[in-house]
Amino acid sequence: MQSSKLAALGEMSASVSHELNQPLAAMKTYIAGAQLLIRRRRTEEAVASFHRIDDLIERMTAITRQLKSYARKGSEDVAPVDLRRSVDAALSIMEPQLNRLKTEVVTDMPPEPVIVLADRLRLEQVIINLLRNALDALKPQADRRIEILLSRGNQAVLSVRDNGPGIVDLDGLFEPFYTTKAPGEGVGLGLAISTGIVKDFGGRLTAHNGASGGAVFEVTLPLHAASGPQKTAAAE
Ligand SMILES: Nc1ncnc2c1ncn2[C@@H]1O[C@H](COP(=O)(O)OP(=O)(O)O)[C@@H](O)[C@H]1O
Ligand SMILES: [Mg+2]
Repeated sequence: MQSSKLAALGEMSASVSHELNQPLAAMKTYIAGAQLLIRRRRTEEAVASFHRIDDLIERMTAITRQLKSYARKGSEDVAPVDLRRSVDAALSIMEPQLNRLKTEVVTDMPPEPVIVLADRLRLEQVIINLLRNALDALKPQADRRIEILLSRGNQAVLSVRDNGPGIVDLDGLFEPFYTTKAPGEGVGLGLAISTGIVKDFGGRLTAHNGASGGAVFEVTLPLHAASGPQKTAAAE
């Protein structure tokens, strides 16, 4: 029993440090930006950078707070979340890295809310993980493009596709510690963690290669009843 507790602890700490890395990387960029802005006496813009840093600190606090709730796993704090907001939030966290790698991002989302029951931050973590992976895959090439499509039929489907080389091993992908990245660049936990999160919300995370190349990741989640009267009500 002790050793299985230790294993769980190891898994949890690996996952927490993994999730803290994205906001840390973003913070580093914003701090460098703020320094530059202050030197150029563009105070207003520097203040805006500090606000974003503040948001990131809050996010990190929320992530470490999960450490406490981990003990009583299962009592997940879910609430209605608009997936469009989650996509926007994830994109704003990844913005510095997307810009640095000059990556074109195309989003296609419905005009009406797409509501699912989830923990907002953890759902954003999933999207951040998918974006990070897409960026890693796109890094070696010159033309980089990521598409984020959100649709709602019977379920909410969020797909993240890139124009990279595609997935080599579709079976190993979701295994913890499966990685094709160099040591220090990947530990192979992102997708394992993300699958767990999506499952907790009653959904699925799947992967395939696009017909015209590139990797496609799909998050499917049950729609929350409050998703709006629009389509469902009209159909009844
Ligand atoms: N967008 C993608 N394109 C190609 N391969 C991918 C993509 N996303 C994930 N993979 C593959 O899945 C592996 C596991 O991903 P992940 O669990 O996030 O761990 P890590 O990013 O640390 O390697 C990656 O090492 C890579 O081989
Ligand atoms: Mg990853």
